[in-house]
Amino acid sequence: MIWDAPSCTRSKNPSYSENALGFLRFGQGYASYVAALKGQELVGCAQLGRLAVCGYFVLRCDFVINLVLVAPSLRRKGIGRELVTELLHRLPGEESSDPFRAWAVVDAHNQAALEFFASMGSAQRVGTLSEVAATSPLVAFALTLSQGALFRDVVVYQLNGRGDGSEYLWKGRLRET
Ligand SMILES: CC(C)(COP(=O)(O)OP(=O)(O)OC[C@H]1O[C@@H](n2cnc3c(N)ncnc32)[C@H](O)[C@@H]1OP(=O)(O)O)[C@@H](O)C(=O)NCCC(=O)NCCS
Repeated sequence: MIWDAPSCTRSKNPSYSENALGFLRFGQGYASYVAALKGQELVGCAQLGRLAVCGYFVLRCDFVINLVLVAPSLRRKGIGRELVTELLHRLPGEESSDPFRAWAVVDAHNQAALEFFASMGSAQRVGTLSEVAATSPLVAFALTLSQGALFRDVVVYQLNGRGDGSEYLWKGRLRET
């Protein structure tokens, strides 16, 4: 019954399509979840987490999409895209003076996930963790540790925040509405 969580609210993101799904948001900041509901049925979820080296040295402007999952019978209907879009709207975007990034680490054999992130508007396919390390060594290090990516063949995507900064709260809860 995760939608009984006291802090959950229905999303007001105006960019959603009219696919009759409700979206709920749980928490903010440190552990940020979004769930897609069809009626009372949970049909998808996604989670955005802070990126930190050894779980301690937090990279202020870098986040990681830890999970995107959509019920098999409802895939290819845009739910995954809307979940990730919701998460990206929580992070300050390029027009902000302090833009944030979300990283996604995808198994190289997960063709659906590769196509999915490639389709996400501003997503940039950075490549292997070595390629990430060439420009962002701390990010590569943190992703390697937090995603257990050392012995996996992975592809890394970088997605830019799309919000205006007003959605993100450092203390880890939703702004009262
Ligand atoms: C990856 C996943 C989350 C995508 O969710 P989804 O709701 O089906 O994705 P969307 O409908 O929003 O797809 C958006 C776009 O991504 C691409 N895409 C998504 N799934 C695809 C697939 N199986 N094959 C090819 N392209 C795909 C398409 O371009 C699609 O747009 P289109 O349908 O208009 O062509 C879903 O397949 C899933 O839950 N997979 C299992 C968990 C997983 O691997 N998660 C990712 C790693 S954490």
